[in-house]
Amino acid sequence: MTNDMTRTYDLVVFGASGFTGRLVAEHIARSADKPRWAIAGRNREKLEALGFGVPVLVADAHDRPALDAIARATKVVCTTAGPYAKYGSDLLAACADAGTHYCDLTGEVQWLRRMIDAHHERARETGARIVNSCGYDSIPSDLGTWALQQEFTARYGHPASSVLALYGETSGGLSGGTVASGLQTATEAGEDRAVRKILANPYALDPDPTAARPAVRDESSIGWEPRLKMFTAPFVMAPFNTRIVRRGHALAGFPWGPDFRYREVMSTPGSARGLAMAVGFTGGLGAIAFALKRPKLRAVLAKRAPQPGEGPSAKTRERGHWKVRFVAEDGIHQLIYVAADRADPGYGSTAKMLGESTLCLALDPLTSEGGCITPSVAMGAPLLARLQRAGLTFGPAS
Ligand SMILES: NC(=O)c1ccc[n+]([C@@H]2O[C@H](COP(=O)([O-])OP(=O)(O)OC[C@H]3O[C@@H](n4cnc5c(N)ncnc54)[C@H](OP(=O)(O)O)[C@@H]3O)[C@@H](O)[C@H]2O)c1
Repeated sequence: MTNDMTRTYDLVVFGASGFTGRLVAEHIARSADKPRWAIAGRNREKLEALGFGVPVLVADAHDRPALDAIARATKVVCTTAGPYAKYGSDLLAACADAGTHYCDLTGEVQWLRRMIDAHHERARETGARIVNSCGYDSIPSDLGTWALQQEFTARYGHPASSVLALYGETSGGLSGGTVASGLQTATEAGEDRAVRKILANPYALDPDPTAARPAVRDESSIGWEPRLKMFTAPFVMAPFNTRIVRRGHALAGFPWGPDFRYREVMSTPGSARGLAMAVGFTGGLGAIAFALKRPKLRAVLAKRAPQPGEGPSAKTRERGHWKVRFVAEDGIHQLIYVAADRADPGYGSTAKMLGESTLCLALDPLTSEGGCITPSVAMGAPLLARLQRAGLTFGPAS
């Protein structure tokens, strides 16, 4: 299969007219890499009005022949047309078939499981690197854990046997597409027992999700992290990010050992105010989970939340920031590692993460095989270097 200079474009941004897609396209347009690129989506007028001055390719997310034509014209497709369970399946399939590298922003476990089952083997045959979840979900978790394990191994001669990631000090907003994706997952779970079973499995995205693995569970209550002296609360994206980290570890052949444990929580300061925050986050998450299980409350949430195409203002995005602390241990040694950015997580920072992932897949010499793989498995060190150059922090706590 070909994925070489015979392709017209280095990369295509599909869904560039959406809230996140436009930010990703702006990141690509500013890049010093100067790729050969195009934007794509279903509405030519809307795409041309964006003013990027690059070719516009038109395809509806359900028009397979038109998607095939796009996939064959480029080395990489980056897509922000979500919810992916609604708009993503045909494009991912087209890329797997055409040997075209692909990256997205999905946080939908059940959809990703379906795509792995349907297309992982085909993508291995064609050499297509299908790299899901290249935004705030799940690059800090996936690449952060990979990078800290490189550091831990360099310091102590072997990897850490357990990692706890604490998401804290975060400020940003939500877009319509993100809300729609959460509602999509909740709706599917409400209607289908098999989906509920997938969502409940901590190893749902492993190559073999039924294989015997160490018992782990998602955090559901307030806790205390003695090493950092911080309170902890359940983290809303942990049920997705942890599955990606575990998939990456399994795809890499379990380099951190068969008993490696990865967990994720939110952190709040170790003060009375921090305790109140942890109580609020835990209660709030419980209330949202309760509402999402009820169709009538889901409809109310959908009405009140940002609509497709809407998202946080430029001011909110500029003031945004995020920080993840990782506590890694081997029973003797301990390493505190940090991933952070001074941009709002879901949009400013996600545009950097997805934009740099796209450029990395298109332009950097990578050695990974094809398949449905995680960002760290696909791009490891080259992506880490790119993100650090783009202003993100990945490194030991000072
Ligand atoms: N992982 C993360 O950290 C992260 C962060 C941000 C967003 N996301 C995810 O990214 C996705 C997009 O979010 P968003 O807020 O940017 O969404 P959005 O503003 O609603 O944009 C959706 C895009 O999909 C396109 N689209 C919809 N239906 C289509 C169809 N039938 N054919 C072709 N294109 C179609 C829209 O085109 P039109 O403009 O023509 O309607 C638009 O370009 C969501 O799944 C969200 O969860 C993830």
